[in-house]
This record gives sequence, structure tokens and C-alpha cells, in this order.
Amino acid sequence: MNKDQLLYFVTGNEHKFSEVSELFQQKKINYDLIQLDINPIEIQADTLSEVASFKLKSIQNQVNGSFFVEDAGFFVDTPLNGFPGVYSSYVFKTIGNEGILRLIKDFGTSKAHFVSYFALYYTPSKKMFLFEGRVDGKVSSSIKGTQGFGYDPIFIPDENPAKTFAELSKKEKNEISHRGKALDKLIKFLKTH
Ligand code: IMP
Repeated sequence: MNKDQLLYFVTGNEHKFSEVSELFQQKKINYDLIQLDINPIEIQADTLSEVASFKLKSIQNQVNGSFFVEDAGFFVDTPLNGFPGVYSSYVFKTIGNEGILRLIKDFGTSKAHFVSYFALYYTPSKKMFLFEGRVDGKVSSSIKGTQGFGYDPIFIPDENPAKTFAELSKKEKNEISHRGKALDKLIKFLKTH
């Protein structure tokens, strides 16, 4: 692997960039990670992998070097059959965490998960690669915690059932989160290619 290569993370979300750059530092990867805030095309599709792949392709000729994008979604499996899923962004902007909580009666039996997809365009092979991560848990009966972003204050991960994601430090969240798991795979790829 060459040292000090540049790698671009195309995102306007400071929280995502901060989680990803912390993991890059921890894993001692020899890439300089640079945030690039340009506007890829976000399509409405049935799966996050399609959204991430399209997003990547839509900016391929605007970036000079290897780069990646990420797309995540929050799925309330019980009782909402996966809602908001691919509509997570719109639902967060409209009804938000309070709105989601109003839709749930029995928090004890609730089930939810996050999924994250990283889509990487890797210049040495001139190809696109996808990396997926998932974390399972349930919905908190109230909004708790001040860290993180988005749905973090209402998600309780199975791996740390006493706290919501928003009550965990960035490092603790990264160790078990959808984004942390997907990024682990991306980092392993970079270390071996
Ligand atoms: P996107 O990947 O930015 O499109 O995210 C879709 C929606 O899910 C947005 O409302 C985000 O705030 C939310 N979201 C994405 N990742 C996370 C996360 O790690 N924790 C909490 N909410 C998230």
C-alpha cells in the first residue's frame, strides 16, 4: 500500500465525517481522509445499496482520485414493518424522533435496526465496491442522550442495552454501529488492495 494517499469522503454530514475519520485514525490507515461536500444525485429506490451506488456514479467524473459515499437507514421492524427505511431522511425531517415514538405502543417488544452502505470508487482497479454493516436493537420509549445525530436518541443497541446510541461516545458507537461495521470492511479492503 502506498503511504499518504488521498481518499475523499463525499458527504455534507459533519457527524458522519467525524465518526469515519475517528475510525480511520484508530485503525492507523495510511490514507489522508478528506471531506468533499459536493452534491451527488440522491434517487428514491427500494434499497440503500441502489441509492449508494447511484450516488457514487453521479459524481464519478467530478472527483480526481479514489472516493466513497455512504447511505444509511433506520428500520423499525416491529411494529412498523421496516418504516422509515429508505425514507429515513424525509421522515426525520418531517415527523422526527417524536413522531416515530408516537407510532409505537409497546416499546418492550419493539425491534429496530440500522443499515449502512459505503460505495467506494477505487482508482487502482477503476471499479466500484460496496460494503455493508448492520446493527440490531430496539426503540427507546423516550428520547435520551445528546451525542450522535438523527435517530441515535431513540435507538437502543442489543450490544449495549442500557443506553441509546446518543448516550454512547463516538468510539463506543463506532465499535458496534452499522457504520463502524461497514467501515471495518472498507478499511480491510484498503489494507489488502
Ligand atoms: P442518510 O444516510 O444521510 O441519507 O441518512 C438517512 C437518515 O438516517 C437521516 O435522517 C440521518 O439523520 C439518519 N441516520 C443516518 N445514520 C444515522 C446514525 O448513525 N444514527 C442515527 N441516525 C442516522
